[in-house]
Amino acid sequence: MKVITVTEFGSADVLRLEERPRPEPSPNEVLIQVVNTSVNFADIKARLGRYHGVGQPPFVPGLDVAGIVVKTGARVQHLEVGTPVVAFPQGGSYAEYVVASPDLVFSLPSDIDWETAAALPTVGFTAYKLLHDVGRIEAGENILIHAAAGGVGTTAIQLARILGAQQIFGTVGRDDKKAIAEAAGADYVINYTKEDFVKEIQNRTNGQGVDLILDSIGGPISERSMDILAPFGRLVHFGSASGEDATIRIGDLHGSCRAILGFSLGTARAKRPEVLQSAAQTVLELVKRGQLTMYIGRKYPLEDAAHAHRWIESRASTGKILLEVSKA
Ligand SMILES: NC(=O)c1ccc[n+]([C@@H]2O[C@H](COP(=O)([O-])OP(=O)(O)OC[C@H]3O[C@@H](n4cnc5c(N)ncnc54)[C@H](OP(=O)(O)O)[C@@H]3O)[C@@H](O)[C@H]2O)c1
Repeated sequence: MKVITVTEFGSADVLRLEERPRPEPSPNEVLIQVVNTSVNFADIKARLGRYHGVGQPPFVPGLDVAGIVVKTGARVQHLEVGTPVVAFPQGGSYAEYVVASPDLVFSLPSDIDWETAAALPTVGFTAYKLLHDVGRIEAGENILIHAAAGGVGTTAIQLARILGAQQIFGTVGRDDKKAIAEAAGADYVINYTKEDFVKEIQNRTNGQGVDLILDSIGGPISERSMDILAPFGRLVHFGSASGEDATIRIGDLHGSCRAILGFSLGTARAKRPEVLQSAAQTVLELVKRGQLTMYIGRKYPLEDAAHAHRWIESRASTGKILLEVSKA
């Protein structure tokens, strides 16, 4: 079968198309024929050797797939051959076939198309966990979402609205991305490379700030975000796209009843997969009912994974980037 491997840590040039034997599911796994996989920012970090928990090259990158169960291990009970699914496979997802543990495989409602399916697991489940479970969003709250035009950003904006957010602010790194975040439902989008997002949000909230911040950037953006986090507010840190760390003073927390929280879907998958079940059910149902749209930015053939990586690294990409692996 065809796979893409990271041959060594480095630029997108290290991605290679290779032939490997098709994996065999263990008694507790299923084999999935992959239709589409998605490209996540974490794949770029993994390729660069900067993703927590990543092994040494060579390895197959990628986190999630949409495909069809083609074989089940002897002890697998609730999944049958022929079932369309989304899944987080063992090993990487840039491959024609993957194996996965049933607790990380989710049956796909028949009315969800293959592109939407591949786009939703990582960004959909993460966005829901960040807002609902970790950030404990309440109806009527104001929220700020950084990297608002990206995969997680466009999904989180819609979910925040569904969960009752009042004002939704977004930040983006280029003017042409504003329209994407607005189309997803953001009320006001700021280009944080040109405008002062702290001042803009203070002005638009009468100095009150926001109750919840989804921060995947790190560095000065995280530090400055604290200036507009309202009393009882929560900042959820879930990525460091800037590659920079940040310093938050604990003295800024207790008196104002504010909290800094963290979340990693990778850690949840590895250590507490059961916590993803309710997020998966809710997100799949919202997508099925047409209430949540996955914004697909671009789709490349599996062979062109390096182009997909370069596109995301350019910071010009919007929405979700997919790799087409086989025809359903
Ligand atoms: N913790 C988790 O479980 C989890 C799960 C999924 C994703 N994530 C994180 O969530 C973020 C969004 O993921 P995604 O896959 O949807 O990616 P994405 O938002 O589509 O792409 C990443 C975006 O980060 C922004 N960015 C800011 N500084 C950057 C820099 N120095 N270099 C490159 N990009 C920079 C860019 O948007 P602007 O230029 O518009 O700001 C870029 O488009 C990523 O940081 C990812 O690691 C975390």
